[in-house]
Amino acid sequence: MQAVFFEGNRTFRVGESVAVEPEPGQVQIQVAFCGICGTDLHLFHGAMAHRLTLPHVMGHEMSGTITALGSGVTGWKAGDRVTVRPLDPCGQCPACAAGHSHICHNLKFIGIDTPGALQGNWTVPAHTLHRLPDSLALREGAMVEPVAVACHDVRMSDLKEGEFAAVIGGGPIGILVALVAQARGARVVMAEVNAFRLQLARDLGIDAINPLETDLPQLVNERTGGAGADVVFEVSGSQAGADTMTKLPRTRGRIVVVAIYGEAPKVDLFRFFWRELKLSGARVYEPEDFELAIELASAGRLPLTKLITDVLPLAGLEEAMHRMEGGGACMKILVSCTD
Ligand SMILES: NC(=O)c1ccc[n+]([C@@H]2O[C@H](COP(=O)([O-])OP(=O)(O)OC[C@H]3O[C@@H](n4cnc5c(N)ncnc54)[C@H](O)[C@@H]3O)[C@@H](O)[C@H]2O)c1
Ligand SMILES: [Zn+2]
Ligand SMILES: [Zn+2]
Repeated sequence: MQAVFFEGNRTFRVGESVAVEPEPGQVQIQVAFCGICGTDLHLFHGAMAHRLTLPHVMGHEMSGTITALGSGVTGWKAGDRVTVRPLDPCGQCPACAAGHSHICHNLKFIGIDTPGALQGNWTVPAHTLHRLPDSLALREGAMVEPVAVACHDVRMSDLKEGEFAAVIGGGPIGILVALVAQARGARVVMAEVNAFRLQLARDLGIDAINPLETDLPQLVNERTGGAGADVVFEVSGSQAGADTMTKLPRTRGRIVVVAIYGEAPKVDLFRFFWRELKLSGARVYEPEDFELAIELASAGRLPLTKLITDVLPLAGLEEAMHRMEGGGACMKILVSCTD
């Protein structure tokens, strides 16, 4: 089988890799598709280098079929179609003890701290598995992980039917937050600066604007009778997004920070006092977010195929990185991992 190895210094190499026999409690999966996300792009740019053992296999947004089981694994068999929730918590720390193992103090993110899915065969702990129903194609199955991020973000916001949400940033995560919020019965406006992504969002039925052309705070005021948004999601990771997020909520409105910032942004704390705002963060997902993501995806309630703009072979990973960093005409790029 083949794998694509990151060798540091913005370089990948496709080569042979040996399938890892599953140890007790592990399963081996034949990987069908693996999505590339912003985190992989950050790794490509040299971020989190201290966490990688080079050469490193990236990838954590995948779908596939079980090929082998280690001893002690129950409830699964060869041939089962699965996706992986790529978190390996320690089970010992205060966060784990409090039931928040997805934000474990010693969390291992599978695909960063350990080898990832951009290879023909991948061996992972069985506790990470989620079953994909037959009705869900494996291409869409590789989208479950980012959908679960969006499900977690919306759940953390406590967004209710009929409420008004503003989403800043229309990359794969922002668009999915908007779609999951709409599926929950919320009214949504989304801001995105990239013309291709703006148009794609509009084609998917999202009320999307370019904040460089339309005054977003003014628009939110108009749409809410001067009240402001019930919930604001900051999903752009930009200083401009952090500047705007405090201008949009109603009194006692909620801001959810999903984005990861290269540099700590400035935030206008005055607005928190003035409007009694609440700010929370949202990080990855919990098992119930994966289950909801699979349910929404397999019920056809999310237009996932339209978000997949490219499917490339393993050898196309470097090209995928260049396309993503160009901020051009792509949304979610998948890699086909098995010939
Ligand atoms: N909380 C988590 O666990 C988690 C999980 C996945 C991703 N993330 C983070 O969430 C963010 C979004 O992820 P993504 O994969 O969609 O990333 P992305 O970089 O593809 O999307 C960000 C989008 O924001 C847009 N943007 C930039 N400045 C803007 C502005 N001023 N106004 C409006 N839009 C603007 C960009 O054009 C881009 O489309 C990233 O910061 C990512 O690191 C967090
Ligand atoms: Zn990801
Ligand atoms: Zn822990």
